[in-house]
Order: sequence, then C-alpha cells, then structure tokens
Amino acid sequence: MLVKNGLVYQGDKFEKLDVLIKGTKIERVAPSIDETEATKIIDAEGKHVFPGFVDLHTHLRDPGQTHKEDIISGTKAAAKGGYTTICAMPNTDPIVDNIATVEYIKRKAKDVGYCKVSVIGALTKKSEGKELTEVASMLEGGIVAVSDDGGCVQNTKIKLNAMKYASNFNIPVIVHAEDYSLSAKGQINAGRMSTKLGLGGIPALAEEIIISRDIMLAENLNCHLHIAHISTAKAIQMVREAKSRGVKVTCEVTPHHLLLTEDACDNYDTNTKVKPPLRTEKDRLACLEGLLDNTIDFIASDHAPHSDFEKEKEFNLAPFGINVLETSFASLYTELVLENKIELTKLIEKLSTSPAKFLKINSGLIKEGCLADITVVDLEGDIHFSAETMVSKSNNTPFINQTFKGRVDTTICDGVVTWGAGTKS
Ligand code: DOR
Repeated sequence: MLVKNGLVYQGDKFEKLDVLIKGTKIERVAPSIDETEATKIIDAEGKHVFPGFVDLHTHLRDPGQTHKEDIISGTKAAAKGGYTTICAMPNTDPIVDNIATVEYIKRKAKDVGYCKVSVIGALTKKSEGKELTEVASMLEGGIVAVSDDGGCVQNTKIKLNAMKYASNFNIPVIVHAEDYSLSAKGQINAGRMSTKLGLGGIPALAEEIIISRDIMLAENLNCHLHIAHISTAKAIQMVREAKSRGVKVTCEVTPHHLLLTEDACDNYDTNTKVKPPLRTEKDRLACLEGLLDNTIDFIASDHAPHSDFEKEKEFNLAPFGINVLETSFASLYTELVLENKIELTKLIEKLSTSPAKFLKINSGLIKEGCLADITVVDLEGDIHFSAETMVSKSNNTPFINQTFKGRVDTTICDGVVTWGAGTKS
C-alpha cells in the first residue's frame, strides 16, 4: 500500500512524503515513491498523515455491559477517531481481575476488532479495594498495567501492598484519584456551579489528597504511578514537583478537561456529568499548561459510553461518563490548534508518540521499520456528531450535534485499512 503526497508527521514538523507499507510495517518514507511499487494507493494530497492515535484509557464495556458498547462498536469508534491501539479498562461486568477475562477481551478484539486492544487488569479483586489480584497470572495473559479505575483504593496499607507487588513486575499502577469521604454523593465540581444548580459538589481536594498519597507511595517504593484523567491545577503542580525530584510518575489528561469547564453543566446536561468532574477555568488552563510543559505526558480519552436510557434521567441519577473516541481529535484540533493554543505537532505527540512510548509499542512514529499504524486526516474537512453519524453504541457526548474541523479520512492499523471516509455500517 502507498500513502501518496500527504503532509507526513516527522516529529517536530510535517513534510510532503510518500509512505510505502509492506505487510504490517512501514517499508519506506521518501519524497517520491513510484506508484508501480504498490497495489493499493491512498491519495493523501492536501491531507495530513499522522501516526495512529494510541489511547491509554477506554471503557469498552465488554463483557457484561454491551448495551452501552462492545468490542466491535468500541473499536470501530476508535478507528473512526483515528486510533490504532486502545487500552481497555477493567471495570466491566465481571471485572477484569483474572487471566480468563483478559484472554476473552484480547481474543475477541483480535477476531472482530477494528484496532488493537491492550488490556489493563484490576489492581484488586472485583476492584473492591480489599484483596490483591493475581498480577503475575494476568501478565501471562498480556496485561499492560493495573488499575481499579472507576473506583479508587481507599485503604492506604492495601494501596501500599498493591504498589509494592506491582513494582516487582515493572508495570505501571494507574490511579483514579478519588477520596470517597470527600467526593461523597457529589455530582459536579464543588464550587460556584454546584451551588447555583443545587447539586452536591466533588471538591478538588478529593482528587488531590489521593494523588499526594500515591506520589508519596510511589516515591517510597520506587513504583511507576500513572495518574488517570488529572483535572486540578494543584494536582498538576504536585506531579510537576514529583517529576523534578525524580519520582516515577506520569499522568494523562482527557480532551474534556482540556476543553470544558463546570460552566458546561449549567443546563443540567447529563452528558457533562463525568468523574473527575469538569473543573474551573483556572484548572482547565493548568491542564493546558501542564500538557505544553510535558508535566502531563499524554492525552487519554476516558471514553465512557452510557446508553440514552441511563443518561436521560435526573442529574443525580445519571451515571458518570463521556463518550470520546470519535470526537477527540476533531474537538482538540478545532478548539486548541485552530485557536493557537497548541501546535499540531505537539497534539500528535500527545495523542500518538508519547502514549506509544508508554506502552513500548513500535508505533507512534512514521518511519521505516515502524508498524503501519497510520491516520490520514483532512484538516479542512468537517465532521458532525449526531446520534445518526456516531458509530459507538452510545451518544453521550457534550459535543452532540456539533460540527468540528479535522475529519479522519482513513485509518490504517497494522497495514490494514480499518476506517475509510464515509463508511458506516
Ligand atoms: O466518568 C467516568 N466514567 N469516570 C470514570 O473514571 C469511570 C467512567 C465509567 O466507567 O463510566
């Protein structure tokens, strides 16, 4: 396959180059490769050619909650959004806390998925925060990290043991930072908006206390701590300081925490209900600053699909979560790159290169010998998100019925086209 005449991501710049793919790998990247060398040509004239996006944080809902999403629909939404690898979070039903469930996801994704799926195993059995899982066994099944995401181990002694155990296997422990005694029955960020709407608040402190605790544990145990969906200015500052002390800590931010604030909740739209909650403008700007100075290592989706019947409820009763995989690139490109808040090269580094490095996979770059994981994007192209156009089983995005620039035209995963413009079935 030959991707011809595109503007190809080369780290700090884009160059007009051709990309020749042979089998699953990139065979050559050069200014002009003869069309006779390929049997299939992808015309990328006027388009940008990026390394496929890599998502460290996807809720695929399979097994057990397949009315919200399943491995087919979730990976298809990923391919449409330009992703070639995603990581499945373990808060399914049952929880992914044993090798059999790990193998189920991996096998099904391999058989019927539209992108590669890595699996994150639970840190504690049933993610109840009480008893450690058999990490060694799940590692045999191929897990890449452990986490109780969606929930948070409250007991510090159990967390210490879990991190000590995981550090033996040299895999990251991912924390969803939430002190339950502080988040309690909170619905949105505690502050001006929660007061105005009469909704219970989730204070920034609920996140910061756990991050502070877990950074201390990581420092003490020399364990790799990865902080999921960081959202407060103070938490980002703590990570900045920990990194400067040499602590093995990394963190991710979601597109919604980069683009929205608690103000989005003003109309009681349950599609804005998410954990951690959308915060203040000061926090949002700190997320952006942290991304730009590399305190924040990458952007992760926290794709959390929920069905209409679950979200169409009173705010207090609706589940937390936002549907992200299809909207992430276009929303970030339109709101941040076109508004000159971030360079396009930086955005691609944070969506592809940096998470690929984290996962130690041979993608995230467009160069000879790398896997042919490639996303061709028409930056001028419009993309509209509606219940009719979305391929995910759920539509719970605050960007529903909005149009953005930056349409993914073609996604290539391991040398196979997994998304082509206009396809939907
Ligand atoms: O809003 C959220 N929804 N945050 C999480 O951490 C979990 C997720 C879910 O699984 O629905």
